Amino acid sequence: MRICTLVGARPQFIKAAVVSRALASAGAEEILVHTGQHYDPEMSRVFFEELGIPRPAVNLEVGSGTHAAQTGAAMVRLEAFLAETSVDRLVVYGDTNATLAGALVAAKLHLPQAHVEAGLRSFNRRMPEEVNRIVADRLADQLFCPTQTALENLAAEGITEGVYGTGDVMLDATRFFAEAAATHAPLDALTPHGPHTYFLATVHRAENTDDPARLRGIFDGLGRLGAPVLLPLHPRTRARLDLLAMPPNVEVRPPEGYLAMLTLVRNARGVLTDSGGLQKEAYWLGVPCATLREETEWVETLEHGWNRLAGADPEAIAEAARTPPDGPQRPFGEGPDGRRPSDAIAHHLLHA
Ligand code: UD1
Repeated sequence: MRICTLVGARPQFIKAAVVSRALASAGAEEILVHTGQHYDPEMSRVFFEELGIPRPAVNLEVGSGTHAAQTGAAMVRLEAFLAETSVDRLVVYGDTNATLAGALVAAKLHLPQAHVEAGLRSFNRRMPEEVNRIVADRLADQLFCPTQTALENLAAEGITEGVYGTGDVMLDATRFFAEAAATHAPLDALTPHGPHTYFLATVHRAENTDDPARLRGIFDGLGRLGAPVLLPLHPRTRARLDLLAMPPNVEVRPPEGYLAMLTLVRNARGVLTDSGGLQKEAYWLGVPCATLREETEWVETLEHGWNRLAGADPEAIAEAARTPPDGPQRPFGEGPDGRRPSDAIAHHLLHA
């Protein structure tokens, strides 16, 4: 069985890393294709090095551009690659433009395809990711759902065949790399602030970065937290920053590698983010989170206030960060029957 894995953006490198490992130990042959959507060393190469991901067989070098330009270039180049490379199945991850490109190309080539992180919905079609997910879920032959909510979302859309509740591969990644993070990226090498003395924030979603009023509201909120806020910045957000005066407690820094992020999350007083992955990492590492959006796909994390929807309103952000959770966590994203999500996915991929 020859599996072709398609990745392009930061969160996909993390998810693919743990599934690659499970595929390798199950004896599968994997061919990795990088669309090249993320290309800065700290957005791409550092993840491959830290996570031990196999070298991509090819980089499609789509780079930055409009959604159509990115998706179109990835489609043309992936189709050409698959025309001369024999594979049995394409695996796409999450909800980026790489996911969309892969889903469309595989469908037209009649190549069986699997979607990891299927069934997530924000019910907000203004998000490019929502559009990408809906298409990928429609076209996939195998749909690997991280949560019960994801299974229910698919059922509500009439998608019931080839659907598996596998748990969340990001949980595997968090567990697998937490130890390496403590050794290779200790807190004191990253910041002079001690454990639980600072907040960690990230902002990169187009709905925030491309709306000056929202971006201003978010930074105003971060300015009210009364503690240092570490803000590793995605290049997209940095490009918008000259519009704004940064509050003095906010420490802007370059994007971090995965291990450094795990350490910074684990030791934070709280996390403030518009990233889906970070909401979950905060939950699994037992750190309260405020989500800088109006909705979340990871509704389970909202229970007992471990995650709070704060939007872009300064006072709501400050209030969310001040208010501790009011009850215990429940298991979230676990694999079926105590199995690791990545092992469950590798099993289904190889025994379809
Ligand atoms: C993409 C995904 C998003 C995911 C995010 C993770 C889509 C539609 N969105 O968004 O779901 O959460 O990745 O980080 O696929 N840039 C650089 N260097 C890079 C990459 C990007 O400078 O290596 C800059 C460019 O100016 C680019 C902008 O960032 O125009 C946005 O990057 P892009 O890849 O288009 O989307 P993301 O915001 O990263």
